[in-house]
Amino acid sequence: MTYDSHDPWLLTPGPLTTSLTVKEAMLHDWGSRDVAFIEANRTVRERLLALAGAERDHVCVPLQGSGTFAVEATIGTLIPADGKALILINGAYGKRMAKICDYYRRDYVTLETPEDVPNDVAALERTLADDPDITHVLCVYCETTSGLLNPLQAIAVATERAGRKLIIDAMSAFGALPLEAGETPFSAVVASSNKCLEGVPGLGFTIVRRDDLAACEGNSPSLALDLHAQWKAMEGNGQWRFTPPTHVIFALARAIEEHAAEGGVAGCGARYRRNCEILTTGMREMGFTTLLPDALQAPIIVTFHRPPDPRFDFQDFYDRLNARGFVIYPGKLTVAESFRIGCIGRIGETEMRAALDAVRATIAEMGVTKLAPRAAA
Ligand SMILES: Cc1ncc(COP(=O)(O)O)c(C=O)c1O
Repeated sequence: MTYDSHDPWLLTPGPLTTSLTVKEAMLHDWGSRDVAFIEANRTVRERLLALAGAERDHVCVPLQGSGTFAVEATIGTLIPADGKALILINGAYGKRMAKICDYYRRDYVTLETPEDVPNDVAALERTLADDPDITHVLCVYCETTSGLLNPLQAIAVATERAGRKLIIDAMSAFGALPLEAGETPFSAVVASSNKCLEGVPGLGFTIVRRDDLAACEGNSPSLALDLHAQWKAMEGNGQWRFTPPTHVIFALARAIEEHAAEGGVAGCGARYRRNCEILTTGMREMGFTTLLPDALQAPIIVTFHRPPDPRFDFQDFYDRLNARGFVIYPGKLTVAESFRIGCIGRIGETEMRAALDAVRATIAEMGVTKLAPRAAA
């Protein structure tokens, strides 16, 4: 995995470490009408659809910006003014979808579980049965706030059975965790270029049922975030409506080739699972504890409890690890003080073991000895 670089390893939820060849794919300038660019854009859209086994009934609509732009565009376009969402929440990204509904004045209800508890499928079924006004269910596949894997398959089946449409935020899962349109019925899946696909940041995309999107003309109150208009324009002449992120598309085209060479979703997912296993085993051996039991942990990012030792200061820990070449991430939980270490990006066993060595050296240097929180000690 390693190459000669002075960049730190990004053990975060993104942006992430990319391969040298993905970076090199950006070493040119392309005009927005350049034939090579239009072809790369077409290929990327097709390959993203294929990754979700969604070539038959869905289309892929890319959008400039980060993942949130695509989530917002999808909600604002697919849910009509008289629609109603049911949002499954167990972290910041579920809450963000509710906030988007507030901005767009879309009616919604929420079903919330604690940050370390998966979405409640029985409650989902009951709520859908009791409230015929609900048109869409919104969920987060891997809730990156904690690293928790939600029961997507059961959610999709329950939503389809109840005759409602499912919008999935698969931002930190797409490309690494299973998601096939033939097995997991969905109206829309949203993800971005810079997480498990290992491209660079700059675009989000939505894989959406063609018939659902076709019915959404005029729904979006936004000009730039109108997914229907973005789709129609791109279908028309192969070009983007507004200045395209040309370099991001070429980097993503290259990243998707490397993803395929590794064995696609299965290959990438297997590397991340191994990264996650090495990380959690090594950290637990040192005395750190994880927020989640292994059964709920997605192999994407791991939340560790903040050690109770008074000598542990997160900023100091972060800075010292950074100086050793590893960037980690603060916690985002409300239930517990924590920090996070990611398992995704162009990293493998060598980097995970080196990260563990760096953590070991750092806590020794800081004089931190008490690592497990009181309850678990
Ligand atoms: C599940 C999930 N949804 C949405 C987002 C938002 O993506 P972005 O920060 O690219 O806007 C993230 C970012 O980490 C995420 O993990």
